[in-house]
Amino acid sequence: MPKIILDTDPGIDDAQAIAFAIAHPDIELLALTTVFGNASVALTTRNALSILSVFGRPDIPVSAGAEVPLEMAPFPAPDFVHGADGIGNIDLPEPSTKALNETAAQTIVRLARAHPSEITLVAIGPLTNIAQAVTLDPELPSLLKELVVMGGTVHQAGNVTPLAEANFINDPHAADIVCAHDWPLSIIGLDVTLQTVLRDHDLATIRESSGKAGQFLWDSSRFYIDFYASRLERAGDLDRACAMHDASALVYTVEPSAFGFISGPARVIHDGVALGQLTIDTQREPYLLPYWSDLPDCRAAIEVDADRVQSLFIETLI
Ligand code: BDR
Ligand code: CA
Repeated sequence: MPKIILDTDPGIDDAQAIAFAIAHPDIELLALTTVFGNASVALTTRNALSILSVFGRPDIPVSAGAEVPLEMAPFPAPDFVHGADGIGNIDLPEPSTKALNETAAQTIVRLARAHPSEITLVAIGPLTNIAQAVTLDPELPSLLKELVVMGGTVHQAGNVTPLAEANFINDPHAADIVCAHDWPLSIIGLDVTLQTVLRDHDLATIRESSGKAGQFLWDSSRFYIDFYASRLERAGDLDRACAMHDASALVYTVEPSAFGFISGPARVIHDGVALGQLTIDTQREPYLLPYWSDLPDCRAAIEVDADRVQSLFIETLI
């Protein structure tokens, strides 16, 4: 059974990912580690604890991580995507449990050392905690089974700038550090997560059959669906739906053959107009400047069987 640590910034689509990880019979969710991103880390930690109670799993430990990016000043959390509370401005109950008394990076390292080669670390927020964890323990890459990252984009336009996806631009230094380490790294970015969508009628089905968790996923997604509605209308698609960014990374851990990858050394640009841009060198040419040389390969998904991913998500939740 895959053991998973989920590094997250809940986040409406993060909550969908947490729901999938809890519901899937082949996933053992060891811990949530939180990071700033969709809201402050104080709020994303509160949301994580509260979501776990609503989903009936307050026993899953949570530890709080980075409040700000490694080097640059944080961008303000985007109220218009996930709401001011990061979870769609719904009345989330105050959590009855508390975060652990250790940082996210410490939790990641401790669990990786306790279960060598068994843990898949799935990061669905800015990569600050992951960069801190590998700095804390440089052996971390060899202790993990896999690192799966939701972030970046290869061929698709970005969702914060034409070049950059939100998780990568929120801490591009951390993303670049992560790409420079030699772990089995699979990136699930916008090339695939804009194709895997949850439609309103799927969310209604989940609400009808999944009790408190289903009701929560329905309530929290109202804000997100409204945000996506204007975009989908512009694209000529009138279905009410939202992108399943974060849950797609979780679905990958149990259904990897639904995804198609390119591979090569990767870098994330951390200054200037291309801030947050992911570039994978699939050519491996001997370029004049050495910025991509001596880096390990990673994989980035550029193809997906979206129907399979969506169906697996829905079937797991109902
Ligand atoms: C990513 O950014 C956040 O808004 C989402 O939770 C997801 O992790 C998508 O670009
Ligand atoms: Ca997220």
